[in-house]
Amino acid sequence: MGMASCVQNYLLAILLLATYASSHHQHKKPLHFSLFQHETINKTGYIIVNGIEGGAGITETTTPFGTLFVFQDPLTATANRSSKVIGTAEGTSITSSVDGLQSISIAKLTLRLKHHKGSVSIVGGTNNVKPSDHPVVGGTGDFLFVQGYVTSSPVDLKGLTVVYKIQFHLYWPPYATQASWKS
Ligand SMILES: *[C@@H]1O[C@H](CO)[C@@H](O)[C@H](O)[C@H]1NC(C)=O
Ligand SMILES: *[C@@H]1O[C@H](CO)[C@@H](O)[C@H](O)[C@H]1NC(C)=O
Repeated sequence: MGMASCVQNYLLAILLLATYASSHHQHKKPLHFSLFQHETINKTGYIIVNGIEGGAGITETTTPFGTLFVFQDPLTATANRSSKVIGTAEGTSITSSVDGLQSISIAKLTLRLKHHKGSVSIVGGTNNVKPSDHPVVGGTGDFLFVQGYVTSSPVDLKGLTVVYKIQFHLYWPPYATQASWKS
């Protein structure tokens, strides 16, 4: 083996080692994607505690002040309910405005994406007829240490099943390296 090829092999080994090391301490890249939440009254979402009497009525967009609602809704790839189910939204919301249009929502979104599996927890105010941003408070599995926000926008509020588009904007802090959650 000549001197040149010896040096070449040595450099190759260093390169491989460097690649290995960096792939094991890589910062996780931000993720941006959308899913669609389907909520069917008295099937995937229920009023558990009635709100105050004489307040806003129960419609597709309003519930009386103080209403406690619980849901377990499928999250699909497109607005079509027959499209692939990618996850589940489990949570609760409490009507927090007297006009019945706004609520405080707490939810755990379990996700089965191609390369990311786990859950994202969100909390925040929801406006039933306008897009609402919900801060991400954390996650589990491949979403451990996740930050960011999800935007929930009404797509179809007519009928027994209401549909919301959920846009995810997920970021990881520098300490959430591949190594820290894989090993
Ligand atoms: C859902 O169930 C409640 C309680 O049984 C009932 O009062 C309400 O009319 C139902 N809503 C719909 C849209 O079926
Ligand atoms: C929804 O998807 C199903 C199955 O793929 C299809 O038959 C149907 O036409 C779609 N509906 C709409 C409104 O696109």
